Amino acid sequence: DAAVSDANKLEKKHFEIPEPLMMGPGPSNPYPRANDAMSKALLGHMHAPMFPLMDEIQTGLKYVLQTENEATFGLSASGGAAMDAAVSNLLEPGEKAVVSVSGIWGERFTEKCLRHGAEVVQIRKEAGLTPSFEDIEKVLEEEKPAVLFLCHGESSSGTKQKLDGIGELCHKHGTLLVVDTVCTLVGEPFFTDAWNIDLVYSGAQKCIGCPPGLSPMTYSARAMEKVMSRKSKPDIFSFDVTEVGRQWGFNGDKRPYHHTPPINIMFAMREALQIVSEEGLENSWNRHLNAHYQLWEGLDKLGLKPFVKNPEDRLATVNCIEIPEGLDAGKLIANAFDKFNLEISGGLGGTAGKVFRIGLMGYNCTPRNVESVVTAFEDGLKQQKFL
Ligand code: GLV
Repeated sequence: DAAVSDANKLEKKHFEIPEPLMMGPGPSNPYPRANDAMSKALLGHMHAPMFPLMDEIQTGLKYVLQTENEATFGLSASGGAAMDAAVSNLLEPGEKAVVSVSGIWGERFTEKCLRHGAEVVQIRKEAGLTPSFEDIEKVLEEEKPAVLFLCHGESSSGTKQKLDGIGELCHKHGTLLVVDTVCTLVGEPFFTDAWNIDLVYSGAQKCIGCPPGLSPMTYSARAMEKVMSRKSKPDIFSFDVTEVGRQWGFNGDKRPYHHTPPINIMFAMREALQIVSEEGLENSWNRHLNAHYQLWEGLDKLGLKPFVKNPEDRLATVNCIEIPEGLDAGKLIANAFDKFNLEISGGLGGTAGKVFRIGLMGYNCTPRNVESVVTAFEDGLKQQKFL
């Protein structure tokens, strides 16, 4: 008989969790009210009070996504997994997707489509650039894909994709438009319905100000028609919008069990959406934009340069800063953490080693925090005799 091994038993001790000011590209520190809501006693996900709570989350998500889509809900998963859900629901094997790639998220969407058995045509741009309306128009005319993927905020390079008019263009060619808003929703102006976007997903942990784990998603009526008329069922049961939709109450009224969601994160999400509603979306967008201007005013005085050359293409929420020639970026990041308890992030994918990244998101997006970031850069530059 097997004997129990004590080899991996945890010792009894207090595990200290540090509390840094997280000014990287996310997660950001959640709103304290969202954190408090999370610590409420657990409810069963099929208990009666859960359903009105889920209804409120849906209403709040419709507000932040600016949509009246019935199929609006929080996916029990990361923002990256919401991308998998988009691929699994909207593409059948053998169908074609056109994917805009100028950083890690377009690369990931491509990889997910290929693993799923879909065909991919890429529109490639260097990091720091985005495809124009004309670039997109040309590929859609040639390829007539089932899906076009665009990333509203490419967090690896700090670029913002213009979206106005692209939904109409897609629909002219029988294409569904999928947009990643993980690092932009609530921080940058965004209009699901007015921009005719068919599927949008986001993350909880950035500008919404909630801990990670429940990812906003919305499907247009057109996207749902596509799902309902598929030849094969979506291949990931947990992410099948028709199954998830039953539990969320927009696909039949019985609300049967589908899965156990992150219930405490749902408490936090409801509270965070309440806070965003109290502030108002336009005020939130302005707060993010003003922090972005304040940041660049401070960085400019230190001689630091933006990675994205065209100011119109710069995200307010994720700011990429060129690493000056000869500067030890790791040392500056470590100094910020050790001395100021403040996170400055490095690049990601193609921008690794080339940029610093600063996130101005949700609860963390305040004039005081921007000042702290500028101070941490100033101190790091002085330490290395760059000032
Ligand atoms: C993750 O979302 C990142 O941009 O680092």
